[in-house]
Amino acid sequence: MVLGSRFWVLGSWFSVLGSIHKREFRTTMNEFRKEYTLHGLYEFDLHPSPFMQFHAWFEQARGGMAEPNAMTLATATADGRPSARTVLLKGYDEHGFVLYTNYESRKGMELQQNPWAALLFYWPHLERQVRIEGRVGQVEAAESDAYFQSRPAGSRLGAWASPQSQVIASREVLEQNLEQLTARYGDENISRPPHWGGYRVSPLRFEFWQGRPNRLHDRLCYVLNSDGTWRIERLAP
Ligand SMILES: Cc1cc2nc3c(=O)[nH]c(=O)nc-3n(C[C@H](O)[C@H](O)[C@H](O)COP(=O)(O)O)c2cc1C
Repeated sequence: MVLGSRFWVLGSWFSVLGSIHKREFRTTMNEFRKEYTLHGLYEFDLHPSPFMQFHAWFEQARGGMAEPNAMTLATATADGRPSARTVLLKGYDEHGFVLYTNYESRKGMELQQNPWAALLFYWPHLERQVRIEGRVGQVEAAESDAYFQSRPAGSRLGAWASPQSQVIASREVLEQNLEQLTARYGDENISRPPHWGGYRVSPLRFEFWQGRPNRLHDRLCYVLNSDGTWRIERLAP
């Protein structure tokens, strides 16, 4: 009883502290203020193909940071509720931008309901951002198979071991799954799970953003015309 009341006193003290803390917890970001001065982006700089323009910027980005292929993938439910997460770009060409994931994950479910997505790259060392929007489809099974087989055995088994985006009881669940799979398959003959593979985002729109002084940034967009050509437009920053 005495012990119980001590816990009660202690508990109330923490909850008072918690509420004071909550009320006072506010922070500002005023110290983070940066001028962007490195480059400019002009219409005459642009490649006629947005894919080639992306390629030129990607080649510059890869020199100066780890994982320049990390990008934000935004999806939305059928009724328009968005969600975003980081994924890795695994390839691109004039057909689109390819990433790999679990088709039954939250993103997979959203893409099934609503096959539109946005991609976002931020390359701070170049003061650049690229936005890409388009329609999404699964890549051909043979292409997903080939990529899956190029991954290390641990990653291949990991794709089987993790029911991505599902609630699990503990970390041990994953470790036990991996242990059982390793005992069963070793690193041989690990086929691609049917619920795992690639998505290709086929762009209808690109925006290339270059930071400039005084917040007068350059924003040049490529918008796909109905005849398959790209129209270039400058947007106000
Ligand atoms: C740098 C980085 C790279 C990632 N790459 C991938 C990836 O290529 N594929 C993937 O499914 N998840 C990747 N993730 C994990 C995702 O951000 C996310 O946690 C996971 O896909 C589940 O998202 P969802 O529940 O919205 O489907 C990556 C995370 C980070 C931080």
